[in-house]
Amino acid sequence: GSYKIAIIEGDGIGKEVMAQALRILRELEQLEPEISFQLEQLDWSSDYYLEHGRMMPENWRDILMPQDAILFGAIGDARVKDEVTIWELIMPIRKEFRQYINYRPVQSLPNIASPLEDKTGINFSIFRENAEGEYSNSGGRMFKGESSEMAIQNTIMTRKGIERITRAAGEYARKHGKCKVTSATKSNAIIHTNTLWDECVERVMREEFPELELESYYIDALAAYFVQRPKSFEVVLASNLFGDILSDLGSGIVGGLGLSPSGNINPEKDYPSMFEPVHGSAPDIAGLGIANPIAQIWSAALLLEHIGETEVAGKVINAIQAVLEENRVLTKDIGGQATTEEMGTAIIEKLNAQ
Ligand code: NAI
Ligand code: MG
Repeated sequence: GSYKIAIIEGDGIGKEVMAQALRILRELEQLEPEISFQLEQLDWSSDYYLEHGRMMPENWRDILMPQDAILFGAIGDARVKDEVTIWELIMPIRKEFRQYINYRPVQSLPNIASPLEDKTGINFSIFRENAEGEYSNSGGRMFKGESSEMAIQNTIMTRKGIERITRAAGEYARKHGKCKVTSATKSNAIIHTNTLWDECVERVMREEFPELELESYYIDALAAYFVQRPKSFEVVLASNLFGDILSDLGSGIVGGLGLSPSGNINPEKDYPSMFEPVHGSAPDIAGLGIANPIAQIWSAALLLEHIGETEVAGKVINAIQAVLEENRVLTKDIGGQATTEEMGTAIIEKLNAQ
C-alpha cells in the first residue's frame, strides 16, 4: 500500500537516528515495489520553540490527523525546560490522539552485554497505560519559596481507562500465544486508585480472558523480579508511572536504551499512533554521530506492523538481529566503534541479503 507518515525528528540524536530510519524506509520502497511512503517531515523541536514560542504550530492536529502514523525521534534541549518539551509536544499527541497503549517489547538480543548473568531467552512485552494515571496535570503548587511551600499532584484512574489497557494486554497475549499477564500494583499503600486498578484488571481478565493466567505483584517486588527472573514474564500490565519505570528497567536488563523501541498506540485507529525510541535526545553524545539508531529503526518496524505491513516489519527486525548476530558493526553504547551511519548501512545490507 501507500502510507502517509509524519516524521518528527526532534532534537539532539533524534535527528541523527531518524536519518537512518528514513534510509531504511526508502530502501524498503526499493525492495518492495508495492509499498510507498508519503513522508511529511515536520521540524517541531526545541529550535522551533525558540523561534515560534511553541513546540508545534496551532493547527498540529489538522496536520497529524490525516497521517497513517507518526514516527518520532526524541526531544530535549538544555535551552528549553523539559516540562515544556514534554508537555507541549509528546503529551498532547499521546493524550489527544487517545494513544492509550504504550507498548514496549523487551527481548534478549544476540551478543549484547547485559548486567544479568543469564541474559538469553528474555522475551516479554510491557503494556503501559499511556493516557491517564499518575501523569495528569491536575494539581498545583502553593506558597512558593516559603517554608510552608507545598505541592499536590493528583493521580486520575478511570474504570474505562484501566479496562481498555487491560483488554489491550489480554488481546495481545491471546494473539501471540502467551499464557500469562502480570499486573503491577501498589494497592497496599495507594489505596484509592490502585484498588480500583486491581479490581478492574481482575474483572476484565476473568470475564474476557478466562484462559489466561493473571498474576499481580506490588511494583517494588516486581522490580526485583525483573532482575531476578525476567524469563518468567510474558505480558506485563502497568499504570503510566509504573510502566514508565519498568520499561527502562526492562531496557536496562537486555542491553540499554539504544536498542529499545516503543509504540504509543490507539488500537481503534480513530487517530494516528506514534512510534518512538525509549531514549531521549542524549545531549552528552548529540552531534558526534555515534548514537545507536537501532531503537529508532525498530520503532519504525513497530510502525510498519501497526499499519498492517507485518511481513516487512519482520524483515527489518530480522536485519537488526542479523547485524547483532554478526557482531561486527557495533556502536559505542554496545561496545563498538561504528558510527550511526555505519550501523544504518549495515542494517540496509542485511535487508538486501534476505
Ligand atoms: P537519554 O535517553 O537522552 O540519555 C540517557 C543515556 O543513554 C545517555 O548517556 C545517552 O548518551 C545514552 N543514550 C540514549 N540513547 C542512546 C542511543 N540511541 N545510542 C547511544 N546512547 C544512547 O535520557 P536523559 O539523559 O535522561 O535525557 C536527555 C534529554 O532527553 C532530556 O531533555 C529529557 O527530557 C529528554 N527525553 C526525551 C524523551 C523523548 O523524547 N521521548 C525520553 C527521555 C528523555
Ligand atoms: Mg521513560
